[in-house]
Amino acid sequence: MSLFGEEYTADPHPALAELREAGPVHRVTSAAGVPFWMVTRWDEARQVLTDPSLSKRQPVDQLPASLRPALATQMLLRDPPDHTRLRRLVSAAFTPRRTRELTPAIERITDRLLDELGAAPEPDLIAGFAVPLPFEVICELLGVPPRERAPLRAWSDTIIVGGPAPADMVAAMSGMVTYFGDLLARKRADPEDDLLGALLTMADEGDRLSGDELVGMALLLLIAGHETTANLIGNAVHLLCRMPARPDRPTAAVVEEVLRMASPAATSTYRVTTRPLTLGTVTIPAGEQVLVSLLAANRDPERFTDPDTFDPDRGDGGHLAFGHGIHFCLGAPLARLEAGIALDRLFARHPDLEAAVPPEDLRWRSGLLMHGLAALPVRLGRP
Ligand code: HEM
Repeated sequence: MSLFGEEYTADPHPALAELREAGPVHRVTSAAGVPFWMVTRWDEARQVLTDPSLSKRQPVDQLPASLRPALATQMLLRDPPDHTRLRRLVSAAFTPRRTRELTPAIERITDRLLDELGAAPEPDLIAGFAVPLPFEVICELLGVPPRERAPLRAWSDTIIVGGPAPADMVAAMSGMVTYFGDLLARKRADPEDDLLGALLTMADEGDRLSGDELVGMALLLLIAGHETTANLIGNAVHLLCRMPARPDRPTAAVVEEVLRMASPAATSTYRVTTRPLTLGTVTIPAGEQVLVSLLAANRDPERFTDPDTFDPDRGDGGHLAFGHGIHFCLGAPLARLEAGIALDRLFARHPDLEAAVPPEDLRWRSGLLMHGLAALPVRLGRP
């Protein structure tokens, strides 16, 4: 079975199970004809995510010159020691306390979106709830004023929602780079108590983020935290709607099991081998691109008992939905907080919520990197 056809998009698990059984790593050619290696087993996935000989650096020379400085400095595309420095600086500002303090804002945004959702007879839970919620939350975190969010949302959608033409993608990226450059200049003149304000005013033993690094970080946080969290909320509602009864378990445990079974980031981002790398019986030469299938690793029967069964009580953690090692997701606590509030409030208000179309008619987003629904029409039931 192909990893790029409609059948795979609708349900990637059968093809991934076949690959995983056949071996820990496979040479694949992308739809665009680019070869890479895909890792499908949990042990080898952890090995790849922690091996310091794999590099995250990707060439940016094909990007327009105006975008290069901000994009090239993003920490998801850097190796130590640059990555270590960027991660240390942003972690000092994006603290657990700052995440916790977003709780009232997340509750307020959730309730407003639920008010709006209730106005339609069969609303689309993705467009009306799962996508706008994380977007608004990241804007709160970064300190993007509400009246300036509409263009940012349009650019963000262009980048993440629908396989746009390369020119649209560059225009959207340029729009964001210009916008954040301007927002940061205003905040520099008049610092505020938000994440960008904190990053601007920090002095870490004389070190701080440069202007390009700040713009790159703002872009990374917006993009990394938006579609992934939308997929988590959508996948959770989808799985819960398919169960005969909602699990009588704490929401946090349900969210963890959704992360494992329907991993919102289907794969890691690319890594490149800098020397030959042996995974099981396969040796990948130096200079090759490697992608970890988080979806496949998280259902590896060698690691998880009955991996295709939804069991919020398995309690053994160990899923790789947020990655592993030095690039482990910086926003994992925020994503968990948001998903918990979203699900609690959605089902408290609409306990009879159900999917309005059968699972086989649902549309999923295409592409190898993300696993999420393009639309999820629901009947909310009586409030
Ligand atoms: C990194 C998944 C939400 C910010 C990652 C990685 C994964 C991931 C798999 C590692 C990629 C790799 O090693 O190649 C997810 C999922 C999310 C989520 C599944 C939601 C359910 C968020 C949020 C934010 C965020 C809400 C920010 C507010 C980041 C950043 C990195 C990252 C900055 C790069 C970290 C580094 O390079 O050190 N995420 N993410 N993510 N994520 Fe998330």
